Amino acid sequence: MGDLGDVVYKPRNGHGLVLFPLPLQGHINSMLQLANILYSQGFSITVIHTEFNSPSLSKFPHFTFRSIPDGLSGEGHSSISDMGILTLLSALNVNCVEPFRMCLAETLQSNSDASKDRIACLISDSVWHFSQRIADELNIRRMELRTTSISSFSGFSALLSLHKRGYFPLQDMKLEEPPMELWPLRLKDLPILETENPEELYRLLESMVKELKGCSGLISNSFEELEPAKLNESGGMEVPVPVFSIGPFHKYFPASSSSLLKQDKSSLLWLDKQAPNSVLYVSFGSLASIDAAQFEEIASGLLESEQPFLWVVRPGLVHGLDLLPGRFMGAVSGRGLIVQWAPQQEVLAHPSVGGFWSHCGWNSTLESICEGVPMICMPCFGDQRVNARFISHIWRIGLQLEGKAQRGDIRNAIRRLMMSEEGEEIRGRMRNLKAKVDYCVKPEGSSYDALQSLTTHLLSF
Ligand code: UDX
Repeated sequence: MGDLGDVVYKPRNGHGLVLFPLPLQGHINSMLQLANILYSQGFSITVIHTEFNSPSLSKFPHFTFRSIPDGLSGEGHSSISDMGILTLLSALNVNCVEPFRMCLAETLQSNSDASKDRIACLISDSVWHFSQRIADELNIRRMELRTTSISSFSGFSALLSLHKRGYFPLQDMKLEEPPMELWPLRLKDLPILETENPEELYRLLESMVKELKGCSGLISNSFEELEPAKLNESGGMEVPVPVFSIGPFHKYFPASSSSLLKQDKSSLLWLDKQAPNSVLYVSFGSLASIDAAQFEEIASGLLESEQPFLWVVRPGLVHGLDLLPGRFMGAVSGRGLIVQWAPQQEVLAHPSVGGFWSHCGWNSTLESICEGVPMICMPCFGDQRVNARFISHIWRIGLQLEGKAQRGDIRNAIRRLMMSEEGEEIRGRMRNLKAKVDYCVKPEGSSYDALQSLTTHLLSF
């Protein structure tokens, strides 16, 4: 159960919801936070999950969990990068269709008993692009959870439309010349996933767009002050269903309870010994991987910056490197700390942390905004590129490192963020945004109001 003090629990309302998270860390965190939020609104919760990356059930004794086979047995979380994300998503969207259909049908059947809460709605991750079809077959309403930013929706729809107009494969010479309607994105900010089979990506996106049209509403982990509806209209995105921006979810319930890896709390003790605002926190999320040459540049850039740092080097982050080079570990001693997985929300809230060098996953971006920590952006793939562009050029709460950054670029970016007047201005804008986010989840705030509307919407099914 969440441990944030100001969540008010409403009485049970007799309606049940079935939630179906995508089994990746960033998606599991968002869906289980949403589950807790809706539980606090009086709904009973059933979570259908794959065996692969199964959530830690004991942390959620108030939910009913149902596991389905996924055909990926034996695959662990850190092996995803070897398999390729797109291949993984495609396999899941084939393997899980029948198990999910059977499990949902059984859940609806067992809850039809008058003594149980009637299931009012299925809420599934937008990447499960067969779930609307099954909801229709079983005659149950479905809402969609998008775990990415609203701005990235426009990025994905632009990607599809440019693909249809023959813009791809991208030519390097075109990269700085975006079609007008793409603003503020450049072609290189489009949410592309590296793949040998690009058609697979377009098929996935097409299916997601089709599914969205059939659902009963979209739940977004964002907030109106950050991503107002008009911004998305100008991005040419059409959302044909009601949108409920009730985020950031982790303002209600933390991500730590759904962490798939053990969080190393020693990082907090180390932070206690550092000066206020002095430490750069470095993490590239749960999926991204870098090669050994890039690792070397990052490590050298960190050392040359002469700034204290806390770096998350997750198993699987560096391709072809099982152990960190001894000479780097020696040089780090005293000025930096490396951990495999950190309690990220607590780290960002720590007064010693003055900057976050991030891959710009949406959860990380929101967590940084909520703690008022300015960012250095190094997007790796997909929606992270769109987020980085908005962070650096629209919200102006971070600096962007372009392409494969070299040690000198890295050193300069760190110094600019942590030590310059420009860095102070960025920090000031981040603080203003933090004040807005603090307000939006309070009574009369935009996300608070959107949550009340979402609850009324779900109760009407
Ligand atoms: C990807 C996408 O890029 C993202 O936009 C999408 O919403 C989910 O999938 P991912 O690499 O998982 O992202 O990053 P992110 O969305 O930032 O989520 C990472 C989560 O792991 C965060 O909630 C963060 O707090 C947590 N984390 C990260 C830890 O608990 N410890 C760490 O050391 C690093």
